[in-house]
Amino acid sequence: MSKGHYVHLDYHKWMLQDEARMVALKAMVQALVRPGDVVADLGTGTGILAVLASQAGARRVFGIEASPMARLSRQMVERNGVSGVEILEDDITTVELPEPVDVVFSECLGNLAFGDRMFRKVQVFADRWLKPGGRRGPTEVRIFVQPTDCRLFGDPRPFWKRPYEGLDLTPFLPAVESQVSVVDVVPSFLHAAPAQVAAFDPYDRADRYTWNASWDLPAGKLCNGIAFWFDVDWAPGVTMSTSPSAEGTHWAQALLRVPERTIAAGDRLELQIDVDFDEEETPCYRWSGCYRTADGRAEQPFRRCQDDPYAHDDE
Ligand SMILES: C[S@@+](CC[C@H](N)C(=O)[O-])C[C@H]1O[C@@H](n2cnc3c(N)ncnc32)[C@H](O)[C@@H]1O
Repeated sequence: MSKGHYVHLDYHKWMLQDEARMVALKAMVQALVRPGDVVADLGTGTGILAVLASQAGARRVFGIEASPMARLSRQMVERNGVSGVEILEDDITTVELPEPVDVVFSECLGNLAFGDRMFRKVQVFADRWLKPGGRRGPTEVRIFVQPTDCRLFGDPRPFWKRPYEGLDLTPFLPAVESQVSVVDVVPSFLHAAPAQVAAFDPYDRADRYTWNASWDLPAGKLCNGIAFWFDVDWAPGVTMSTSPSAEGTHWAQALLRVPERTIAAGDRLELQIDVDFDEEETPCYRWSGCYRTADGRAEQPFRRCQDDPYAHDDE
């Protein structure tokens, strides 16, 4: 992997200060680790979850981290006299361990769930090193989408539509429309109800996903975006939600833009989201759909691709 942004300690500070995340991850470690276990923490970062596994009674914990911050995490473990934790500066797909493990876990969730590009990699690790019948987390990720009016949380479109220093900036609008943003969604600006479009095992990621949803929209409201979030079962019985109505986390939510429409009585929004991945596991999101009128006409059809503003195709 690239040494990447995770070397930047701000990210680790945000993650450690994320109360909802840490409460859930502590519960995950407690649920999975039994006294005497050999444990692997995949992408150990600061080493915090490896330390928690040691405190839960693990005999030996491998905290594996590809970035050079592993050296500092090793110092942290030593400085605090934590026993049984070995920090390995290595890639989880190729690391060699002295013995197989009873438990494997990973905080492998990024923005829009797939953003950390780790699911296939944790799967490769578990196939190689987890003992038959071993325990692992997380166990399930569920994806939710819901129509919204995003004016209150940073809709950038008005800026690009206005003249700037006498210049018309609207040629940039297709790229703006195709971007996926990380935002804090305001729950009162959500329309209809959340739709759960997927539930999958992160240790068994598919090559691609196609998700469909449709909603009856409330007449008179403005619709211009799709809020996107995930819930995760870190372990059996340990669930954390990144829903806009749950306790806030550093993941916040994501926003996909759709054509703006003042909803008429009987309008439905039809949406399809396609996700595929390159060889480095970087996800690419495509979304398409239309507003379906009460008499069945498709209006304002759209087709967007996160990686390609030129694929933007609104009528
Ligand atoms: C979301 S952070 C979690 C850090 C830590 N486990 C925590 O919960 O605070 C994911 C970590 O995985 C590391 N990572 C990503 N891909 C990796 C790979 N292929 N091998 C080893 N570490 C990796 C990143 O550098 C990052 O530190």
